[in-house]
Amino acid sequence: MGNHSSFHRPVLLEETISLLRPRSSGRYLDGTVGGGGHARALLEASSPGGRLWGLDRDPEAIEETSAVLKPFANRSKLFQANFRHARELLPGLALDGILLDLGVSSYQLDTTSRGFSCDRSGPLDMRMDTGERLSAAQVLEEEDEEAIAVILRRCGEEPFSRKIAREIVAVRRQQPVRTTGELAEIVCRAVPRRAERKSLVRVFQALRIQVNDEIGALESALESLFGMLAPEGRLAVISYHSLEDRPVKRYFNSLADPCTCPPDLPFCACGRVPTARVVTRKPVKPAPEEIETNPRSRSAKLRVLEKLAVS
Ligand SMILES: C[S@@+](CC[C@H](N)C(=O)[O-])C[C@H]1O[C@@H](n2cnc3c(N)ncnc32)[C@H](O)[C@@H]1O
Repeated sequence: MGNHSSFHRPVLLEETISLLRPRSSGRYLDGTVGGGGHARALLEASSPGGRLWGLDRDPEAIEETSAVLKPFANRSKLFQANFRHARELLPGLALDGILLDLGVSSYQLDTTSRGFSCDRSGPLDMRMDTGERLSAAQVLEEEDEEAIAVILRRCGEEPFSRKIAREIVAVRRQQPVRTTGELAEIVCRAVPRRAERKSLVRVFQALRIQVNDEIGALESALESLFGMLAPEGRLAVISYHSLEDRPVKRYFNSLADPCTCPPDLPFCACGRVPTARVVTRKPVKPAPEEIETNPRSRSAKLRVLEKLAVS
């Protein structure tokens, strides 16, 4: 699996750790351990007593993180699981900090056999949890043209979604689309030359989001993860594109500013009171130096919410 540092370089590491304020009596959940970079830093900063539970859908991420967290084996526990099931998996925990660092790891993107990258020709897979049924190739085989266009538009905001969907369906009448290279060729045939690169990135992103139901998992997890926080506990989310960031921002604001009264009403009549405060008024973004040394960090946005003590 390569050495630990090439698996994934954690994004916004110092910013995330300082906003989660780790302490020795603390209890933490990393819902997306990936290569264990953030998890390790949380355990170091909360030594000697801090405890961490780590989840990832990807069995290879759990294998990697088990090795990375070996020195902390008595204070950490890992599970191969979707963070949307965290509450059922870990009932009764009152956590001081929760982290979601969304999307894919560098290891997933760079491993040809996982089929996430438009730059490497491999099987068109894209499953984070390799035990799941549907791969990207099966989605393109089973869905009709209209459904494929909707996926490309909704999950990738792809302007040429219809043309690409039509081309996919035309090709699969001859033979199934099985590799990332075949899909990349189809996209390039369907869009103008000047749009090729951007369309490739958006189509691959859209399929990945669909195959892994990434937005569904995020939307259903936010409320249950908030319910796992102790008073004054913090939920930190790092997102990489607007489809991820939007529901996070919306959910955080709905807790911090839940009043539904019309803005021209001089007093609050709905009686809804805040249960949290938004710690990051504006999302935290990587400094230019981080973007320079780790270009994959460039679109990252970190938002942090704190549960109010009285809620
Ligand atoms: C950006 S990486 C996390 C990197 C990690 N913070 C580190 O320091 O190495 C995202 C990880 O989240 C995992 N993931 C994405 N969605 C998930 C979900 N719903 N449940 C659990 N893991 C998920 C992916 O498999 C991937 O390993």
